[in-house]
Amino acid sequence: MSRRPIQQLSTALVNRIAAGEVIERPASVVKELVENAIDAGATQILIEIEDGGRELIRVIDDGGGIPPAELPLAFAEHATNKLSCDDDLFRISTMGFRGEALASIGSVSHARLQSRTKDTDSAYEISNRGGEIGTPQAAAGNPGTTIEIRNLFYNTPARRKFMKGASTEFGHINEMVLRLALPHAQVGFKVTHNGRSALDLPVTTPEQRLLEAWPKEFREARLAIGTRDAEIHISGLVGLPEFARPTGRYQYFYLNGRHIKDKFIQHAAREAYRGLTEPGRYPACVLMIEMPPGDVDVNVHPTKIEVRFRDSGRIHGLVMSAIREKLLSSDLTPAAIPMRGDNIESIQPANREDMRATLAAFFKEGSTEGIAAPPPYQPTFQLNSPAAQTQRIDFSTPTASVPMNVPTSPPSAPGFSTKHAAIQLHNSYLVAQTEEGMVIIDQHALHERVMYEELRTRLMRGPLESQRMLIPQTLSASLRQIAMLEQIQGLLQRLGIEVSPFGPGTLAVQAFPTFLEKLDPVTFVRELLERGEQELLDLHEEEILHELLDMMACKAAVKAGDPLTPAEIEALLSRRELIDRSSNCPHGRPTTLRLTLNDLEKQFKRTGF
Ligand SMILES: Nc1ncnc2c1ncn2[C@@H]1O[C@H](COP(=O)(O)OP(=O)(O)OP(=O)(O)O)[C@@H](O)[C@H]1O
Ligand SMILES: [Mg+2]
Repeated sequence: MSRRPIQQLSTALVNRIAAGEVIERPASVVKELVENAIDAGATQILIEIEDGGRELIRVIDDGGGIPPAELPLAFAEHATNKLSCDDDLFRISTMGFRGEALASIGSVSHARLQSRTKDTDSAYEISNRGGEIGTPQAAAGNPGTTIEIRNLFYNTPARRKFMKGASTEFGHINEMVLRLALPHAQVGFKVTHNGRSALDLPVTTPEQRLLEAWPKEFREARLAIGTRDAEIHISGLVGLPEFARPTGRYQYFYLNGRHIKDKFIQHAAREAYRGLTEPGRYPACVLMIEMPPGDVDVNVHPTKIEVRFRDSGRIHGLVMSAIREKLLSSDLTPAAIPMRGDNIESIQPANREDMRATLAAFFKEGSTEGIAAPPPYQPTFQLNSPAAQTQRIDFSTPTASVPMNVPTSPPSAPGFSTKHAAIQLHNSYLVAQTEEGMVIIDQHALHERVMYEELRTRLMRGPLESQRMLIPQTLSASLRQIAMLEQIQGLLQRLGIEVSPFGPGTLAVQAFPTFLEKLDPVTFVRELLERGEQELLDLHEEEILHELLDMMACKAAVKAGDPLTPAEIEALLSRRELIDRSSNCPHGRPTTLRLTLNDLEKQFKRTGF
């Protein structure tokens, strides 16, 4: 093959290549144009889209505008008014700085830009047809800038082909505008598609604007966070654990007003929810991080979506502690699922009114002294059955200091003479009265969480108490399991479990934690090894500890189907108040559901009122 000489590429081609990096689809054009409008100090930005952006993208702003003499430069490559000296690149405070976006967009479309500054009487416009820049012409127009893009990708067939249907492309545009709008509550945004209004975000308060990130049902249950150290300020909203989703759809992270994707920050948010959400879920959060522009490099990715922090460990720590502290100090109990179905609909209004009155009386009078009139429905209680007399909840370990407040005489009315006024239903659920209504507790899930938290606290003081076996109990194990065991030996010792090799392919349990005395040590260790070789190998020490504690807590906790005595119920509920994260079990499932009197009343008034 004959060699061609090296040639300098034409400007038009260079711009088209550059456009390939930044302008992926219509939404990327919208991003660049809206960012320019924000940088120009606009207070109202209107985005008009036709046919998913393939036909037209028009962005109208009321910002500062461009003086006529500079109009040709707006479309020129590497031309910007956002960097005034070389050092500015290292302290970026505007959305744009590369001076490339308009040149790139103009090189792959037919563009028209009209602008008027506040101190000129007339607007001027200039066109760019695939890199051919026209000369400025006087035009009629208000102060501000309007830019119109048609025939996007007309000269880059591969890109054009990759565009999806109008509704998909418009979906990306809408999401992009939302993303850009969240940190700019002082700016109003409007989007129309084919002449119809699609998004309308009027000027509002920062917190109200952030709420636009989530579906309505998340909004009421939000937690506002805020923390700062000497240089970094973190603020925003996080959602209750129940709003965590299998994808990061409801997560938005911003750095100095710029939307970013960052694995560190995402990890920090997930860590903060550890044990509160099911594994693999992404909590809902909108986080704004503000820091000195010099401490972060935003010039690492063409679309600026990735940034590089000078001290990413510090950001990670701050994000995690800001969220975690908020979660630990908040009531995370999810609301019970609203009642639905035939039985509610079929209740006649009169009956419903009766039930409402009965319920109201029930809640008013049934506080600590028992109920005046018996409730119409009597569930089967297991409070005084002989089987329930033995105490299955382990009160003595691992933290013996927990107050128990065990009543001495059996209650006269089922469950309502104790401090916590609770009853057990189906040997599985506890229903307890609260100030604003009632909670329904999954006894196993709550006990598991209680044990887990108490074990964790107890571990801080040293290894758990353990019982040495008179005769070591042996079990067989694979080579892989034995290797895994060696790796977690130290952790096991802290937990009071001592297992050592005992001949080829055999292990011996030498000591076992006292509080697990009801379990068979060999069965427990075998399960630990089996789970371990599948799940624990790639984990960090802290994660392995979490898994092991969880396994112990799960085994030691009361099960669904276990009848509980009033004293046991009382003890469990008292401990619920003393621990962190009591709203969810260590797997992240809820332990408790909340049903307020308000909810009940709403439900009973559903029809006919
Ligand atoms: N809506 C607008 N209002 C006022 N000036 C604008 C507007 N859009 C563009 N400009 C001017 O045109 C210049 C070029 O815009 P362009 O988007 O190409 O580059 P940039 O924003 O400086 O950097 P980047 O390539 O990172 O976006 C800007 O620096 C700005 O001076
Ligand atoms: Mg720009």
